[in-house]
Amino acid sequence: MKDFREMKRRGEKITALTAYDYPTARLLDESGIDIVLVGDSVGMVVLGYEDTTFVTLAEMLHHTRAVARAVKRAFLVVDFPIRTYDTPEQAVATARDLVGAGAQAVKLEGGATHARRIEAIVQAGIPVMAHIGMLPQSVREEGGYRLKGRTQSEIEQLIQDAYAVEKAGAFAVVLEIVTAETAKQITSAIGIPTIGIGSGEHCDGQILVTHDLIGLFPWFTPKFVSPAARVADEIRRAATAFIERTRRGSALSRGRGD
Ligand code: KIV
Repeated sequence: MKDFREMKRRGEKITALTAYDYPTARLLDESGIDIVLVGDSVGMVVLGYEDTTFVTLAEMLHHTRAVARAVKRAFLVVDFPIRTYDTPEQAVATARDLVGAGAQAVKLEGGATHARRIEAIVQAGIPVMAHIGMLPQSVREEGGYRLKGRTQSEIEQLIQDAYAVEKAGAFAVVLEIVTAETAKQITSAIGIPTIGIGSGEHCDGQILVTHDLIGLFPWFTPKFVSPAARVADEIRRAATAFIERTRRGSALSRGRGD
């Protein structure tokens, strides 16, 4: 495992992207990414679910095995799917299953309320990445993907959560859709790296869903993402060209042969 705390200390930004399959994971790994995350976002951008609350442990294990076969140098983190870490005992058992499939670390959604679970997993020898701010597994209770850190009480809660996950032994914490000012405050307050998504530029690193970055899920792109490629357009172009070529070819051969 890279020394992510040391990278934070040196001001070296940490890079992280998601992967759910062998070719994508291999391409990211070969590109020099620091962390590959098998996110439960797989549910939305690969499996077509409405949100991440439908993702099962069996699905996470399946995708983790594919990614693990590809990743040679990046650090491989895997998300706990919902309802598989409700107690410290269940969290440790699930973490062991994820490690069995190839994870080098696990990620869970939750702050102070999840400190005992983080402690238990770390004590079992498995590194934990925490995730605070907007928690996609709580999207239904929250009524949408809302920016966090807009009120004083939300800011205080986020800072408490960040301290709690650090104290519990997390090696890093994802800050999802948190105001840039709050993310900056948290980043300078804690010793472990903050990895931001839609939380401004002051975090110690950045993570994105690869499908958003490369334009492979064109039906929805989060506001904070500027796609760096348009892979969906390329797929449509190649498929249309193939369809036209094939249909033209069969029409031509019918015309000539019969
Ligand atoms: O599931 C996911 O992809 C995540 C992110 C932080 C991108 O949790």
